[in-house]
Amino acid sequence: MIDLLSDEHKLLLDGLDNSRRFLAHFKIDDFDSEIKLFKGRFQSHIMAENLKLYLYLRISLPQGSDQKKLAENMRLEMKEISKQVKSFHDTYGSGQLTPALIYACETEITKLRKLLGERFEQEERSLYPLYKRQAAA
Ligand SMILES: [Fe+2]
Repeated sequence: MIDLLSDEHKLLLDGLDNSRRFLAHFKIDDFDSEIKLFKGRFQSHIMAENLKLYLYLRISLPQGSDQKKLAENMRLEMKEISKQVKSFHDTYGSGQLTPALIYACETEITKLRKLLGERFEQEERSLYPLYKRQAAA
C-alpha cells in the first residue's frame, strides 16, 4: 500500500507540473483536463490515507504516544491542505478560466506545488515508515 501511495504522490506532483506547463502555453483545454484528473486523484489519495493509513495508526499506536500525536497532527494538517486544494479547484478548475485568471492561477499552482511537494516528502519520511513499522510489528 505504501508503495502505491508514494507512486500517487509522484503522479499528483507531475499533474501539477503538467497543469502549469499547459497554462504557460495557453493550452486551456489541456489544463482543464489535467486539473480534473488531479482533482480525482487527489480525492482518492486522501480517501485511501484516511481509510487505511490513519485509521490503522489510530487503532494500533499506543494511546498518548508521540507517534500517535504525530499521525493525528498530520491527519489534521492534511484536512486543512485539502480545503486549500478544494478552494483552488473551485476557483480555477471550473473549465471557465478567463485570461484574467490565468496569471493568478500560475501563482497559485506554484504555491500548491511547493506545499504538496513538502507535505508528501514529510509523509514519506515520517508517516509511511511509521505505518510500515506498525504493520510489521
Ligand atoms: Fe499522501
